[in-house]
Amino acid sequence: MSQVHLHPTKDNFVEKSLVDNPKYQAMYQASITDPDRFWAEQAEKFISWYKPWDTVSEVDYHQASIKWFEGAELNVSYNCIDRHLPEKANQTAIIFEGDEPGNSRHITYQELHDEVCRFANILKQRGVKKGDRVCIYMPMIPEVGYAMLACARIGAVHSVVFGGFSPESLKTRILDSDCKVVITADEGVRGGKKIPLKKNTDEAIAGCPNVHTVLVIKHTNNATDWNSDIDVDYKQLHQSASTECAPEIMQAEDPLFILYTSGSTGQPKGVLHTSGGYILYAAITHKYVFDYQEGDIYWCTADAGWITGHSYIFYGPLANGATTLVFEGVPNYPSASRFWEVVDEHKVSIFYTAPTAIRALMALGNEPVDLTSRKSLRLLGTVGEPINPEAWEWYYKVVGGENCPIVDTWWQTETGGILITPLPGAHALKPGSASKPFFGVKPMLLDNDGHPLEGEAAGSLVMAQSWPGQMRTVYGDHKRFFDTYFSQFPGYYFTGDGARRDADGYIWITGRMDDVLNVSGHRLGTAEIESALVLHPKVAEAAVVGFPHEIKGEGIYAYVTLMIGVEQTDSLKQELTQFVAKEIGPIAKPEVIQWAPGLPKTRSGKIMRRILRKIAANEFDNLGDTSTLADPSVVEHLTKNR
Ligand code: PRX
Repeated sequence: MSQVHLHPTKDNFVEKSLVDNPKYQAMYQASITDPDRFWAEQAEKFISWYKPWDTVSEVDYHQASIKWFEGAELNVSYNCIDRHLPEKANQTAIIFEGDEPGNSRHITYQELHDEVCRFANILKQRGVKKGDRVCIYMPMIPEVGYAMLACARIGAVHSVVFGGFSPESLKTRILDSDCKVVITADEGVRGGKKIPLKKNTDEAIAGCPNVHTVLVIKHTNNATDWNSDIDVDYKQLHQSASTECAPEIMQAEDPLFILYTSGSTGQPKGVLHTSGGYILYAAITHKYVFDYQEGDIYWCTADAGWITGHSYIFYGPLANGATTLVFEGVPNYPSASRFWEVVDEHKVSIFYTAPTAIRALMALGNEPVDLTSRKSLRLLGTVGEPINPEAWEWYYKVVGGENCPIVDTWWQTETGGILITPLPGAHALKPGSASKPFFGVKPMLLDNDGHPLEGEAAGSLVMAQSWPGQMRTVYGDHKRFFDTYFSQFPGYYFTGDGARRDADGYIWITGRMDDVLNVSGHRLGTAEIESALVLHPKVAEAAVVGFPHEIKGEGIYAYVTLMIGVEQTDSLKQELTQFVAKEIGPIAKPEVIQWAPGLPKTRSGKIMRRILRKIAANEFDNLGDTSTLADPSVVEHLTKNR
């Protein structure tokens, strides 16, 4: 049984933290009783506006209509860069740590300004205007941040696609939001391995007739195909591009970015975030959740292709004038000490990573950690999936030396920023619990009929009140936005997660309630993987479920029915695994493929995934109600051949 951690002791953390428990209580109460007043105060404190708002919030969950700070004007890149220049021109904004140790550099706020302006001017030269969508498919190098901020500067809407996605996935995302410009690099490098980003882009845009420009950052300088009608060498334009570019004046509700994420059905959806509310929410959560104070060196290990990279590598920290570390590599290259060596090298004080990375490093033992000092650390964080108490305790004791609080932050692509988390100076820590709502966040648990559950209870996690960082729509499909999040429980935002509240009011996330998998913190829809499998000519039908995986949290388990006459061989399993990687990306590779001559279905033809999940988890004794199965022998066959 793991224990409650009351007082992390380093430098008397609680005394020096920004928010103690009484302050949390007072601010939380204020944020719930009069949210508009609370958010107006924070908006004045955290953000520089060209023009104030007419109304703070106008929200109607029954219509899926969400607006914050209507009438106000701002520019997000101005907020992340220009306004810091009078005092911080020479302070480091970004520390870049390359894949190979010893390859690092510091970028000051002045340099960031100049680089972003150059980038913005180059985009303008290529015809990019306010409102245009720009796709960014990049490795983790500073240019990914410059590209995002350059879009924000000129009012273009960026859509970052994770560099691990396949050409096919990139193509669907480019087409869905009709991006006409793609920003990429010749190659990415991770753990010494090259990732052919330009080649992938070429394959993707072969199916995107509207793409007129591919802006290529030459990073490894290895040769790639070159089409001079479309391809533009970024570095060639760089020197002559001006380091001045006036920020576009944007409405608070103008779109800032689109980020695709997986749902339980269909293609990934383009989550749309707007300017004013998003940047305020990213900034305020970054400050309070990470107890960010002047002089901190802050490192979030996420990739820019995910929401964590957007909000907590770039937008939140830069809006607060922080120093943020951008890491190109992986936790175990060249050795399992890498994370901690980087911490020592750059005196990182706040470190934010995913449970899957912690579990993978924990499996390699304490020695790689013990070889390093980590004495600069004062706060640790996790995100992306539930953290099991064993991994939490290891992170706390071995990595943090029992001196650093851990913030277990629960949130989603849709929420823009952290919604449930302990505040490090305000709450006793319970390993495995995301703990308490952030300011302005009103979580509730509902039963299946939508009735609120009080006290100790478990149910569907919903939000009863909007917050400024909430997504505004699914790009191009507002009905899908309503149907996905607001139709199950009218008047509430449904997160898709289940949760439990304990006697102290702490919230414990129990995981997704829909057909969304969380594999190493990466979100994948079972439907996407099934669609990829059935594209293979030898596959008749496929059903995909998750199963408990020691390192990844959840692994992908695929039941595959082959076309009549096709032989069930191990080499075909390999082929199908590679096929999925090619269709979606390596993160979607099934861990296990089981041949299924038939799938368990109800008499109306619905696949009974509940049963498939049990079989995948090796829980044969308790398959639940099987009386509605059309053909019970199917289940018998599957359990026998597990
Ligand atoms: O199931 C929850 C899980 O990740 C989902 C959101 O995934 P995504 O949009 O990719 O964003 C991940 C990074 C914010 C949630 O619905 N999740 C995220 N954080 C936690 C978590 N589950 C448990 N504990 C967390 N701290």
